[in-house]
This record gives sequence, structure tokens and C-alpha cells, in this order.
Amino acid sequence: MKAIRKQMMIIILCFVTAVMAAGCADKHGIPVKTVGIVMPSKSIERWSRDGDYLRSSFEAKGYHVEMRFSEDILRQIDDIQVLIADDVDVLIIASVDGAALSRTLEDALIKKIPVISYDRLIMNTDAVDCYVSFDNYRVGALQGQYIVDALHPDQTGDTYNIELVAGDPADNNARFFFNGAYDVLKPYIESGRFIVPSGKTSFDKVATPAWSMDIAFKNMQNTLASYYSDGKRLDAVMCSNDRMGLGVLNAIHSDYLGTSLPIVTGQDADEAALQSIMDGQLAMTVYKNVRNEADVAVSVAEAILEGKTLDDSLLGELPAECSFDKTSYDNGVQKVPSFLLVPEVIDAKNIESLIETGLFTLDENGKYIVPVS
Ligand code: BGC
Repeated sequence: MKAIRKQMMIIILCFVTAVMAAGCADKHGIPVKTVGIVMPSKSIERWSRDGDYLRSSFEAKGYHVEMRFSEDILRQIDDIQVLIADDVDVLIIASVDGAALSRTLEDALIKKIPVISYDRLIMNTDAVDCYVSFDNYRVGALQGQYIVDALHPDQTGDTYNIELVAGDPADNNARFFFNGAYDVLKPYIESGRFIVPSGKTSFDKVATPAWSMDIAFKNMQNTLASYYSDGKRLDAVMCSNDRMGLGVLNAIHSDYLGTSLPIVTGQDADEAALQSIMDGQLAMTVYKNVRNEADVAVSVAEAILEGKTLDDSLLGELPAECSFDKTSYDNGVQKVPSFLLVPEVIDAKNIESLIETGLFTLDENGKYIVPVS
């Protein structure tokens, strides 16, 4: 009897050890895979939403999720190191500084942990398996085109004063947005239809560290003081995202001498931006459905874990419309295979279409469109 009990104990012990070694298992005894997700910030609305959507989409498919919101690059390096040490099965990273992760990701490469660069491209590394984002150049092109269509200089024959406000130079997206917008505006600037009184027409001159709303506000105040204090009219500000657009509008309200409100562009459909559009302030935002972006990232992660080849043959299996691009996103070491979702323009005319996504609704007073909480 004693011998049988001892044998049973040994069998149980072996079983427990085996399960522990394999990590958690589902109800069929299959080991549960762990995904490590690293987002740049919890306090910025869009990244907090991305984090929620990624978590719920992975959990719905039976994954265990380890989620970090880094806030700064040193903490992000730490976060990634911890997840690599934990042997996660796949890493999804939206970087704080795309060029600062090469060394950290060498360990992921050594451990063969696949890495998906989420929304922002991670630079100077061959550890990245693929990139899931929106068509970033198109985001900028939509902003530039919105300004052209609103001012329609070809039809009026007039000249217009515009300014440019771009994003964080540490974020590879920021240049894509700027270039997309600038390529549309450039012919009008060259023909003299659009004048940029500050003379700041290069990305380096208009980039805004950390996408900061405060810096965008102060920079706009300085521009107004230096180039518009004679009462010159400002017709449009091509601004790369909503937070900076709202910062620019604050500066216009406090320091601009003119009477008509310039066209100010944005991106992200942040709650405050939607409110601003409905109040007749921000002219437009570029909406990027990040629920779809998260779902595409989940499908691509599964494809990688199943050993599938990442190419356009995957497009039919993805849960949202994407293009496959293997040339545009060069991170300095490799051209990263990219799945790019489709951005769209939202302004006062079509803002209610957001409700059809199921992610937005009318607030309790029926006045504003707000994200479904
Ligand atoms: C994202 C934008 C966002 C910006 C600031 C970019 O990488 O693509 O959607 O507005 O970061 O958070």
C-alpha cells in the first residue's frame, strides 16, 4: 500500500513539473501561449485603447497576455527585457523611440522570440519579423489634400498662408505623415499659391518632440508672434495629430490677431478632437480604427506562430482591409514586411459614420460622439 502511494506521489510530482515547465495549459492540456505587449503610454488615449483591444483580442483566442505601458524609453527597454526573460512566445511592441531598441532585441533574436513592430517601425534591427500599421504616408496625404480641397486655390486663384506642425522625430511614422502631407502641398507652395510665412517647410524645422501638445502650443505661439503680429491671415495649419492640433488651436485662440479660424488638421479621432470638430474648431481628423489594427496584429502573430510565410497570401485571412508592402519600410537593416490598414478622413460632415463602427456612440445628452467605454 505504502509503495503504491509513493508511486502515485512520484507520478503526480512528475506531472506537475511537466506542466510547470510547459507553462499554463488550457482545458485540453495544450500549453497556453503567452504574448508580451509593450505600449508606449497609458495616458495617451490612443495607446490605452490599443492596449485594451490587443489584450481582449488575444485573450479571446486563448492567449495569456503580459502587458506593459512604458511611458519612457528606459522603462521600455526594461519592460522588453523582462518579457524576454519570461520567455514569452511573441512580442508586440509600439516603441517610444524606434531607434533605441536594437541592443535589447538582440536577446529576442537569440531566443527566437518573434517580434511584431506595432504601429511604429522599430529601427536598425533584424529582430523584427513584421510591421503592422496604417498606411502612414496616406495619413499625411489625406491631411494635405483636406487643406487643398478646403482652400481650393486653383479655383479661387488666391494665395493662402499655411504652417506645418509635424510629430516626434524619434517616431518613424512622423516623417511618413509629414512627407505624405508635404508631397500634396508642395506644388502649391512652389507655385506661390500657398505661402509659409515662417519659412519652416522641412520636417526637422517643424518636428515636435514626444508629440507634445504643450510644445505644439508654445511653438505656435512663437510662430504667431514672429510672423503674424502684423495681422497677417493664417489660413491653415497642417498638424500631424489631434493632440498637437488642439495645442495649436489653443495658441490660435490666445495669440492670433485674425478673426477667421484657420483650418487645422488632426489624426486619431481622440475624444477631445471629435468634440472640437463638432464645436466647429478642429477641421478634421484622420481616423485609424485601432480595433482593426489590434485584430490584424493578432492574426499576424498567429500566422507567425503557425510558421506561415508573411506575404500577400495572408491578406485574405486578415480581419480588416490591408495592403502588403515589402519595400516602403526600411528600418536601416532590413525592409520590414508590412501589413498596412486604411485610414479615413472624418470631419463635421461625416462624423456620425463613426457610430457604425460600433466603437463610438452619442453621449448621454445626444450632443457629442464619444468612444464606447
Ligand atoms: C501614431 C499616431 C499618434 C502618435 C502620437 C504615432 O506613432 O501612429 O496615431 O498620434 O504616434 O501618439
